[in-house]
Amino acid sequence: MKKKFIPVNVPKIFKNEKKFLTQALKSNWISSEGPFVRKFEKEFSYFNKKRYGVAVSNGTAALEIAIKCLGLKKGSEVLIPAFSIISTTNAVIKNNLKPVLVDCDLDTWNMNVNETIKKISNKTKAIIITHIYGLPVDLNKILKIAKKKKIIIIEDTAEVIGLKYNNKICGSFGDISTFSFYANKHITTGEGGMICTNIKKYFERSKSFRNLSFSKSYYDRFNHSEISWNYRMSNLQAAMGCGQLKNIKWIIKRKREIGNLYYKSLKINKNIILQKNSTKYAQNIYWVFGVLLKDNIAISKKEMMKKLLRKKIGTRPFFLSMNKQKIYKKLGLFKNIKMPNSEYLSKNGFYLPSGIGIKNQEINYIIKNLLKILS
Ligand SMILES: Cc1ncc(COP(=O)(O)O)c(C=O)c1O
Repeated sequence: MKKKFIPVNVPKIFKNEKKFLTQALKSNWISSEGPFVRKFEKEFSYFNKKRYGVAVSNGTAALEIAIKCLGLKKGSEVLIPAFSIISTTNAVIKNNLKPVLVDCDLDTWNMNVNETIKKISNKTKAIIITHIYGLPVDLNKILKIAKKKKIIIIEDTAEVIGLKYNNKICGSFGDISTFSFYANKHITTGEGGMICTNIKKYFERSKSFRNLSFSKSYYDRFNHSEISWNYRMSNLQAAMGCGQLKNIKWIIKRKREIGNLYYKSLKINKNIILQKNSTKYAQNIYWVFGVLLKDNIAISKKEMMKKLLRKKIGTRPFFLSMNKQKIYKKLGLFKNIKMPNSEYLSKNGFYLPSGIGIKNQEINYIIKNLLKILS
């Protein structure tokens, strides 16, 4: 029989999503005005131990809005991880602020705590804490200093929905926290995002910024108070989100099962480095299962990805370190800045199929082939 291709991500759609979606369709509420949006915001913010939730069109939009909410002075510095999605840096730049990069650790792949603290200057007004691939940033020290120096924390929780740091849910630590519901996230609405906060001012501003800052007046609706976006989430997406959220416990359990299956078989291999399976403060939730090739081995990341592709196994390279991005070089940003660990991860890292739609049989096939190539 011909082997079927295994994509990096296959999502799982449960019964409730179909039920709620049908309900939304039957009700004719298909835009962002529908009742599922409010319901999803309420349930998701409650899950993350935050008072307010504002659903948006994706995680990138959530970051842009969250930063704009802070109302920082042009040129203020924002600390961000060098190893992450480009959305973070772009959002800082688009808000006329200065991104300051922090390198990551080689074992957690998260921003290094000591370097974060070292890079705080009197111009630092915010830190974007991004939890990477399934493990949280070790938050305690950073939160303490941020509080003392009145630095605002944006917590990007896109990759770790449902993860706990010292038994407290990630996303509850930021002054303002952001989430993504793209198809490969722990819960998905296809495309989508959310901003959660306890601060009423940020809540009100987020609602305004996602919806073109329409006037609240019935008669003066089209008189706008800000340059804003249409970053709304539709009722159909929110209906799906409500359904997914009902299965979050199962999803987290399955994500860990997938990650642990890979981890147990791959951890003894001398040619690779894996993200920590657990730390003193958290247990990996495995958004994706990453593999980092050691520098001295015979095969390159590209060759490895090619060989796996020949075996019908899809992979993705790791993020490209922000100081190495073509567009930022063109803009003259991050000149002469070196991020050795982040660059190393970009050069040697890729991830394996990790979506909750994957079968154990497929994972075993992937492990077998990967180990064979590595031997
Ligand atoms: C940490 C992080 N933040 C933000 C985003 C952006 O989310 P979206 O793809 O929904 O725009 C991603 C996407 O993967 C991400 O990994």
